Amino acid sequence: MLQNMLVLALSLHLVTISLARGPNAHERKPYIVYMGELRPGAETSAMDDHHNLLSTAIGDEKVARESRIYSYGKSFNGFAARLLPHEVKRLSDEERVVSVFPNTLRQLHTTRSWDFLGMPTALKKRNSIIESNIIVGILDTGIWVQSPSFNDKGYGPIPAKWKGKCVKGANFTSCNRKVIGAKYFNLDASDPDMGNPSPVDNDGHGTHTSSTAAGVHVRGASLYGIAEGTARGGVPSARIAMYKVCWSIGCSDMDLLAGFDEAIADGVDLISVSIAGPSREFFEDPIAIGAFHAMKKGILTSCSAGNDGPYSYTVQNVAPWIMTVAASGIDRQFKTEVNLGSGEKFSGIAINTFTPKKKTYPLTSGAHSVNISGDFYGNASACDYGTLDKNKVKGKIVFCQGSIGPDYTIKELGGAGTIMVLDEETDIAFTTLVPGTFVLPKDGKKIDQYINSAKNPQAVIQKTRTLNISAPFVASFSSRGPQSINLNILKPDIAAPGLDILAAYSTLASVTGDPTDKRHAVFNIISGTSMACPHAAAAAAYVKSFHPDWSPAAIKSALMTTATPMRIEDDNAELGSGSGQINPVQAVHPGLIYNISVSSYASFLCKEGYNGTSLALIFGGKRKHNCSDFKPAQGTDGLNYPTMHAQLLGASSDIFATFHRTVTNMGNGNSVYKAKVTSPRGLSIRVSPATLKFSRLHEQMNFKVVVKGRFKRKGTEQILSALLEWNDSKHSVMNHILIYRPLA
Ligand SMILES: *[C@@H]1O[C@H](CO)[C@@H](O)[C@H](O)[C@H]1NC(C)=O
Ligand SMILES: *[C@@H]1O[C@H](CO)[C@@H](O)[C@H](O)[C@H]1NC(C)=O
Ligand SMILES: *[C@@H]1O[C@H](CO)[C@@H](O)[C@H](O)[C@H]1NC(C)=O
Ligand SMILES: *[C@@H]1O[C@H](CO)[C@@H](O)[C@H](O)[C@H]1NC(C)=O
Ligand SMILES: *[C@@H]1O[C@H](CO)[C@@H](O)[C@H](O)[C@H]1NC(C)=O
Ligand SMILES: *[C@@H]1O[C@H](CO)[C@@H](O)[C@H](O)[C@H]1NC(C)=O
Ligand SMILES: *[C@@H]1O[C@H](CO)[C@@H](O)[C@H](O)[C@H]1NC(C)=O
Ligand SMILES: *[C@@H]1O[C@H](CO)[C@@H](O)[C@H](O)[C@H]1NC(C)=O
Repeated sequence: MLQNMLVLALSLHLVTISLARGPNAHERKPYIVYMGELRPGAETSAMDDHHNLLSTAIGDEKVARESRIYSYGKSFNGFAARLLPHEVKRLSDEERVVSVFPNTLRQLHTTRSWDFLGMPTALKKRNSIIESNIIVGILDTGIWVQSPSFNDKGYGPIPAKWKGKCVKGANFTSCNRKVIGAKYFNLDASDPDMGNPSPVDNDGHGTHTSSTAAGVHVRGASLYGIAEGTARGGVPSARIAMYKVCWSIGCSDMDLLAGFDEAIADGVDLISVSIAGPSREFFEDPIAIGAFHAMKKGILTSCSAGNDGPYSYTVQNVAPWIMTVAASGIDRQFKTEVNLGSGEKFSGIAINTFTPKKKTYPLTSGAHSVNISGDFYGNASACDYGTLDKNKVKGKIVFCQGSIGPDYTIKELGGAGTIMVLDEETDIAFTTLVPGTFVLPKDGKKIDQYINSAKNPQAVIQKTRTLNISAPFVASFSSRGPQSINLNILKPDIAAPGLDILAAYSTLASVTGDPTDKRHAVFNIISGTSMACPHAAAAAAYVKSFHPDWSPAAIKSALMTTATPMRIEDDNAELGSGSGQINPVQAVHPGLIYNISVSSYASFLCKEGYNGTSLALIFGGKRKHNCSDFKPAQGTDGLNYPTMHAQLLGASSDIFATFHRTVTNMGNGNSVYKAKVTSPRGLSIRVSPATLKFSRLHEQMNFKVVVKGRFKRKGTEQILSALLEWNDSKHSVMNHILIYRPLA
């Protein structure tokens, strides 16, 4: 008994690494065997159970022991093991197994933003006491606790509900009352950092996302004086728990699942995951699986939508129980000006931390600096690596066309700076390794002409200034819908700032991540849906601090129906930003909410084709689940989702979709909501009933939306978007409706 307990204790917190040896060792590949919900009381025997299952599949107990990498068993059931193809097949056929999928690597989706969202520093309406009991769990690259953003001065004791731990290691000696927990997972031990592992952040990303969610107020934060202001998280009183699952090679599925398994059991209130990979079926996707079990425990997971925009069908992390977050731009842009000897000046976009030491520098171009014995395949005009002559570049500013990133080459050759030309207009400001800026093609042409005509071309690149611009807008890189896993759930759900965000950084990393970069900063400006995700997680935490008993779906609904619709330049704003920009203050009083119970996810999954056997495992419980036990999901999408979406794939140009919804009154007891529909020509939308009369709080009412119409032409992609607003004159509850037809 005692021995069993010891084994258990070790398996829970230690990352066990076992390399399968034996004749086929080199062919074994890591897989995840997902077995659904834990059976009650099975937590203690999970490891034995996994071992038995594996022994049966492999047919050799010793090899089975060596092949098992890790057992999940705190929040859901499953394990990771090195397997051969026929063993994968055998395990997939097991009745107790939901799915077996290969372990893959996923990637990270790399301050004034809170003022911009209407949450000024002096926000009076805060439940600081409750907020300080909220624990935000973050799965990321680790955390640099020494950052001023994680100063725990004035924080009360760690919330009593906390069951997590602070695992120590290299450069990581303790947590504090702000960062109350930190663990790391590196199950396949394939990372160079593994020699001396710890939850420390060698990258900067995890420190940045953590401080965006819950960093304390730090006055005078800036990157070398750029973007100076007060840096702070959305819920500055909340606590942070870091689960390091990303290493220099990426974030593996096995590690992600281990992070979720522990975070849920440790007692976090929300989870923020700025990581993704290609979309997969829900129960073959570690983030969807982890977020599902979190949802069952009342924990909302916020995830980044991906950085593969502006192209359609690129959105990731699309499971309906996830809050999928797109990146928006805030009302600030980083301008870096270049002045020519001719007196002309051009404004580029970049983050240039360098103040010029001289009034002007000699200016040349890549095309004029060719190394005649250099790399013939490279393009000197674009300053490709290996094409330039050191003697022609040294001490000069070099004009480079085309590629992004010649600043590395210019730095190595001793250049004084670089002017780069973008292919198209961009919104993202990259930090340059040497004095540098990115200019528009039309300005690039003029600069090139000057270089070719002036006797002694000169230029200087100024340090970056900030400029106010009109916002919000969807960032160009932010991944767009529609999604391809579930055709009737609109993703992304919502947008939050993710462009040029100033937040805490790890001084163990350089500002650009380049090893030759000697700049290390306590704050850094980076962009990505990675930065948007913790903003939305913090907004959810803020709502939760007012409504601690709300379900994950209710909190997400409140954020979605109160969001500010995005600037609509084309007619597909929703495919980029879902319901629009988060408005945390408004979300505290949504009026009506669209709630989703755990069992309605089951009927939804039945509709999606998951059978009773799989559902019984995923949902657990004593009852044997069977799809005929559930009321069939109604309508086109079959889930009580705050947006209404249909992708119509057939050849017909007729549009027909129905949406059944149930709203719960969370505003005033007695209230009358009237439906107001804004729809484009060609779409008729009927809401019935069109008036909802509530007489008490928590009362629920059903309504139905019938959408009819015709697509205009055959064969082209078409997007028809409409808005249903429920209004009781005190609350405005916005529901976006989007009908999509792909290119035939
Ligand atoms: C610890 O930090 C130092 C710099 O302070 C760095 O040189 C070293 O590589 C770090 N060690 C690990 C294991 O991260
Ligand atoms: C030109 O390129 C060759 C081959 O890469 C390199 O060895 C040489 O140092 C370069 N010369 C100058 C002056 O940069
Ligand atoms: C080199 O780059 C320039 C600028 O982008 C481009 O105009 C030119 O066509 C390129 N040359 C080759 C050979 O690719
Ligand atoms: C830019 O915006 C900030 C913050 O809203 C404001 O304080 C400042 O005056 C604005 N500057 C300009 C030039 O409009
Ligand atoms: C939503 O549903 C859950 C469970 O189905 C319930 O616990 C919760 O009270 C409901 N309402 C809100 C506002 O979360
Ligand atoms: C349920 O689905 C799983 C996985 O798709 C499949 O292996 C199993 O045979 C199905 N069971 C039934 C009863 O259809
Ligand atoms: C599901 O339930 C129905 C009726 O309750 C029953 O006829 C059917 O056999 C059950 N299916 C399974 C797979 O248990
Ligand atoms: C909807 O409600 C808002 C308050 O949230 C109010 O200002 C607005 O006038 C209402 N709109 C309509 C059309 O009733």
